[in-house]
Amino acid sequence: MCGIIGYVGKRNAIPVLINGLKRLEYRGYDSAGIAFLNDNKITVRRCAGKIRDLENSIKGERLRSFIGLGHTRWATHGRPSEENAHPHRAGGIVLVHNGIIENYFELKEDLKKKGHVFTSETDTEVICHLIYSFSQKGLSFEDATREALKHVEGAYAIGVINEREPDRMLAVKKDSPLVLGLGEGEFFIASDIPAFLKYTRDVIIPENGELAVITDKGVSISGLISKKPVRKQTTRITWSPAMAEKGGYRHFMLKEIYEQPRAISDTIRGRFFPEKGVVNLEEFSLRAGDLKKVNKIFLVACGTSWHAALIGKYMIEDMARVPCEVDIASEFRYRRPIVPEDSLVIVITQSGETADTIAAQREAQKLGARVLSICNVVGSTSAREADSVFYTHSGPEIGVASTKAFTTQLTGLYLFSIALAKAKGALKSGEIKELFSELLQLPEKVEKALRINNAVLKVARKFYHARDFLYLGRGINYPIALEGALKLKEISYIHAEGYPAGEMKHGPIALIDNNMPVLALAPDDKVFEKILSNMEEVNSRGGKVIAVATEGAAKALVRASHALFLPKTNYYLTPVIFSIPLHLLAYHMAVLRKCNVDQPRNLAKSVTVE
Ligand code: G6P
Repeated sequence: MCGIIGYVGKRNAIPVLINGLKRLEYRGYDSAGIAFLNDNKITVRRCAGKIRDLENSIKGERLRSFIGLGHTRWATHGRPSEENAHPHRAGGIVLVHNGIIENYFELKEDLKKKGHVFTSETDTEVICHLIYSFSQKGLSFEDATREALKHVEGAYAIGVINEREPDRMLAVKKDSPLVLGLGEGEFFIASDIPAFLKYTRDVIIPENGELAVITDKGVSISGLISKKPVRKQTTRITWSPAMAEKGGYRHFMLKEIYEQPRAISDTIRGRFFPEKGVVNLEEFSLRAGDLKKVNKIFLVACGTSWHAALIGKYMIEDMARVPCEVDIASEFRYRRPIVPEDSLVIVITQSGETADTIAAQREAQKLGARVLSICNVVGSTSAREADSVFYTHSGPEIGVASTKAFTTQLTGLYLFSIALAKAKGALKSGEIKELFSELLQLPEKVEKALRINNAVLKVARKFYHARDFLYLGRGINYPIALEGALKLKEISYIHAEGYPAGEMKHGPIALIDNNMPVLALAPDDKVFEKILSNMEEVNSRGGKVIAVATEGAAKALVRASHALFLPKTNYYLTPVIFSIPLHLLAYHMAVLRKCNVDQPRNLAKSVTVE
């Protein structure tokens, strides 16, 4: 997830681009750059670091231009560095990109054979070279871009300028966000409206497969392939600038909850081949041979990432039949764990910088284990020091309470478990194909599950005065009970406990009276009937049951005072779907209790102290 901006108009483009990038910094902040055109020459200025660093690097220079592009990067391919920062250039073509190009490797190899020289590790640079290669064949800027994009698979929103046709900027989108801003004699492209809200509130939203040509006279849009002109409606935005930064959401946490379908799509894109029933092991920087040798797995993490680790154990042991141990990082590093030679340690961390997790990772390496890091931040300490890395492509997570990073970690663990099971011969190819087919439907099912928001809000209104809360789950959803309780504690300051439902009778049942809400996770799996009995036990002691169940499970409804129904998925992916109402419930309770949702007291997003 990156931020792009482009400007064509009558004012100096440089400050417009820098201001726009500052508004987009929430989309990525590991490197930044701008490109601008003067006298048929494009100048590119880039640097690793934040927009402030870019701004400082050009301070005092009298840069002026009326057409330019800007980019703030959230690294997906290639570490954060000046060479990998956008804009990228090939000949006179300069481009910024947000998205992921799935077939970049093949395209790059092909272009290299034809003599193209690459200067970065990014997937983006191939689009630049492709457009350049077609323009060298005599095609116009527009046609070269149309032709190049026919070869590109994946998601993109791009802005392109060309020294040979300096009066125009092109913008195209497919599955990545792009908006166009229409001012008086000036026009903008951007990943998000706040980038240009200071200058105009009139926007056009292009669809997938549309190409926009932007000059200082106006914007014209046509089908990328059909070339047919498309008439678009202009919308007037009424958001305040603060709202706009959060994409219209009141808090980053809510925005990030709603970003999950996109985050999961980006995390699975290009990472498996459904027809062949194969996981793309290159993306895990692992070899099938190495996987085959693994006979023991340790999953190590902190906080919400530790909950992902607990779920990972259920997935790995069930699918691949390899024994797993799960550790909280601060425990692992001091408990003198016995790590056999053929062990793999999987470290799970959104930030890649959590001090305890890094220390545990180093301890594991000292003990001779190979480490796989499942991490969201490219180039972070965990990612750099691990032997193998799987990046979750959830984009920057700003809210302290982790949501989209968590569900993309689960998605990564699901893919890993399938890869391991395949290497071990523990799953048949038909079973693997079924698992892939369910994974492909996951973004859509998450989208559907998010429609539960209003029903969750009603539950929150009913219970936000509660002093205590109990969350019950069984099997693979027991860690989701822990996660629901943790979120409630973290952001609404209500005391909450997550428990394996079968253990309720060994303690927490003593707490139940008519003031105690109990949220029961009741997907229609093999322990469904068991959790129904636990709900009965709560009812008969006067507790209030909130059931979270699979669509159509009427039996859950009769045993609950409130019920929330979710789309059906397979056993391994229920934690992804069932975490959604729990994250939303904690969110709404915190808002109703007037708590600071994005920055809860005493907590930090990345805990870099022990
Ligand atoms: C902090 C955050 C949590 C996060 C945990 C682990 O406690 O508030 O949201 O789950 O750190 O962070 P990591 O970046 O290692 O996943």
